[in-house]
Amino acid sequence: MGEQVTRVGIVGTGVISGTYLDHLGKLPGVDVVAVADLDVARAQTIADKNPAIRALTPEELYAADDIEIVVNLTIPAAHAAVHQAALAAGKHVYGEKPLAMDRTEAEPLLKYAAANDLRIGCAPDTVLGTGTQTARAVIDRGDIGTPHAATAFMVTPGHELWHPAPEFYYQPGGGPVLDMGPYYVTSLVTLLGPVVRVTARAGQSKQQRKIHTGPRAGTVFDVEVPTHVTGVLEHESGALTTVLMSFDVWAGRLPRIEVHGTDGSLSVPDPNGFDGTVEVVTPEQREWTEVPVAGGYAGAGRGVGVADMARALRTGEPHRASGELAYHVLDVLESFVDSAVQDQPLDVASTVTRPAAVPLGASPETA
Ligand SMILES: NC(=O)c1ccc[n+]([C@@H]2O[C@H](COP(=O)([O-])OP(=O)(O)OC[C@H]3O[C@@H](n4cnc5c(N)ncnc54)[C@H](O)[C@@H]3O)[C@@H](O)[C@H]2O)c1
Repeated sequence: MGEQVTRVGIVGTGVISGTYLDHLGKLPGVDVVAVADLDVARAQTIADKNPAIRALTPEELYAADDIEIVVNLTIPAAHAAVHQAALAAGKHVYGEKPLAMDRTEAEPLLKYAAANDLRIGCAPDTVLGTGTQTARAVIDRGDIGTPHAATAFMVTPGHELWHPAPEFYYQPGGGPVLDMGPYYVTSLVTLLGPVVRVTARAGQSKQQRKIHTGPRAGTVFDVEVPTHVTGVLEHESGALTTVLMSFDVWAGRLPRIEVHGTDGSLSVPDPNGFDGTVEVVTPEQREWTEVPVAGGYAGAGRGVGVADMARALRTGEPHRASGELAYHVLDVLESFVDSAVQDQPLDVASTVTRPAAVPLGASPETA
């Protein structure tokens, strides 16, 4: 079983596809055999550099007999349609976050996959790395007692400073909450469990933004979503997380995620990274002290969630970066923005079980 390889096709060969190709290329359990993009030249460039990878049209890729998992790296507005086309062709799918633009788009995907015995996986898989998983081990061991509160802060001046086609970050399906929120809320659910209720307020400092890099530098585009959203998540456990997600902040010295328990405080590394330093303060040790790595896939990069899903498909276990987890995260994020827009606290209808922890020393092929 350890020798088995799952063949993968990638749809969407833009900015993030390079890091997926690099990391998937290092994982023995998965093999990228084809790529496709609406922009045929982009896919062809990848195939030209990698003789083992063929460039196809998206339709040819969905229909390819050798491909078991379609990895969907398109923009959020295309996530649901590409997933649905791949599922309809009998493929398992794994996609970039968010799962879809909203719950209405996402729900039929989960239903279709369940009815047809197909799997959906979704980024972020960063939380399967040693950073979030060491923090998870600290909580599960009881090192900080019972967690009762957390903070999650993501502030940036905006992706138009570095991305050559940043409009999607400012359209429905984007914004700081749907774009970066998946990292934070997936980490928080991994650490503290599901969220049952949200309260938020939102602002928007600019009506238009300007592209800073690439061939379209100088182009001005409209901002269609709130760009500064702040509020509280209430977890089923009773823990309260204070959240700020903003594309309206030039600089901040805010910690990304901290968790506070009855017997200590925990500093969690950037959930948009796989590793990073975990630190704790306890009543006995009243200064921040580094925790040795205690869990997670070591040396992981984007695509480890695909390998985790490929192994789980072979063994029949649940995969960790699952569609159900991504749906709950999307539900929390959408409810968070809705709460701000509707000016009221909202219950979160969905729930999920925390995915299994990744044990220390595990590899995605054998975990
Ligand atoms: N850029 C990053 O640093 C980054 C990091 C993490 C996650 N992501 C996520 O990855 C996804 C892609 O981001 P990106 O920055 O690579 O975007 P991008 O715009 O650079 O690339 C997207 C690609 O998808 C193609 N595409 C769009 N619709 C398609 C369709 N229906 N069929 C086939 N191809 C289609 C486009 O032609 C384009 O080449 C997004 O969900 C984003 O949130 C991006």
